[in-house]
Amino acid sequence: MRTQVAIIGAGPAGLLLGALLHRSGIDAVIVEQRSADYVLGRIRAGVLEQTTVDLLEQAGVGERVHAEGLRHDGTELAFGGGLHRIDFNALTGRHVMVYGQTEVTRDLMAARSQAALPTWYEAEHVAIADYQSAHPRVTFEKDGVRHQIECDFIAGCDGFHGVCRASVPPAAITAYEKVYPFGWLGVLADVPPATEELVYASHERGFALCSQRSRTRSRYYVQCASDDDVARWSDDAFWDELRRRLPDEVAERVVTGPSIEKSIAPLRSFVAEPMRFGSLFLAGDAAHIVPPTGAKGLNLAAADVGYLAQAMREHYGERSDAGIQAYSQRCLSRIWKAERFSWWFTSLMHRFPEAGEFGARIQRAELDYLVGSKAASTALAENYVGLPLA
Ligand code: FAD
Ligand code: DHB
Repeated sequence: MRTQVAIIGAGPAGLLLGALLHRSGIDAVIVEQRSADYVLGRIRAGVLEQTTVDLLEQAGVGERVHAEGLRHDGTELAFGGGLHRIDFNALTGRHVMVYGQTEVTRDLMAARSQAALPTWYEAEHVAIADYQSAHPRVTFEKDGVRHQIECDFIAGCDGFHGVCRASVPPAAITAYEKVYPFGWLGVLADVPPATEELVYASHERGFALCSQRSRTRSRYYVQCASDDDVARWSDDAFWDELRRRLPDEVAERVVTGPSIEKSIAPLRSFVAEPMRFGSLFLAGDAAHIVPPTGAKGLNLAAADVGYLAQAMREHYGERSDAGIQAYSQRCLSRIWKAERFSWWFTSLMHRFPEAGEFGARIQRAELDYLVGSKAASTALAENYVGLPLA
């Protein structure tokens, strides 16, 4: 096979890149190691920045997010038994859209199959080669048959555990990492959300988050130990723990029901630099991870492929490699700001066992300051709705 851009991974980064390239008349093939159903079954992010929605529109898949997405103009911070609203719209003139990652993926997959664009699911032994040259290659096996793709560029959109970053010699890459001493236990349930807007709760028993996917589907999280086992958590135990961590006025409005998904996610901050190695570009979770507090992961992945699609348009359309040269730097300057925000919001809202009572008082003072100061609230709102693309 021959294509212009070989995309490894059919998560949101790979699928969005494929759609943006297609719109620009650039050929791409996607190679994914899992099945389409498996990719759709992963319950992950739920909050889209306006810049992400803009990119979905550019990719030709903006219709359903506008029709079914829920526009949120603010969020609630819960602490000390009360609720404190951060009004994104009043503070920044912007908002976010609640629309699940699975829906984004579904829309992109549907558009891709409608346009009959090539995607190889359930590809085994995916490998990349010669990416330092102008003739890189991707090889894989499907149903026991070996395939090779010759291309101009490889986009490594294969997530944190993918093969692309792992193929770069360790001496050529620098990784920065912080692992947090806790995880998030998440439950998805077909029950109406307790509140109109999301609630981020800081409580002495640990962090809790009330999120949602629609008016009839809720997503809740509680901070848990990193070595906790999801099998230990019955639905009842989860609902009890969640309600204990919420102010009474929210707890009494939580509608419980059977979980349709329950899982534990570890919390990590990670950045790999640079993000380009010759003809290989890393994008999304392949290059960086944020802890989920603040919902930046999917949005960062979308911004990366927005920059990458732009670089490809300049290369093929304008014969300029300026975008390719600038890719890594342009992504990283925004990524580090989102890393800082996600680390800060995580540090503010979670119980850190080693920080003790002094740490808890400092957190409380910062929360009081945050909701009492327009400057501090604006800083939170600006980051939450998403910093501008450079
Ligand atoms: P991924 O979605 O990981 O997609 C990578 C794709 O590459 C996958 O489909 C994978 O199967 C495929 N792949 C991997 N290796 C290979 C290979 N060798 N060959 C071919 N294909 C390969 N973000 C939020 O904002 N809010 C959240 O609540 C949230 N929760 C999360 C929970 C979990 C458990 C995880 C892991 C992430 C969560 N995130 C969340 C982060 C967000 O989901 C990611 O940032 C987003 O999925 C990144 O998209 P991506 O396309 O870069 O990577
Ligand atoms: C969700 C996840 C987040 O990390 C967050 O900050 C907000 C919402 C969610 O899964 O809905």
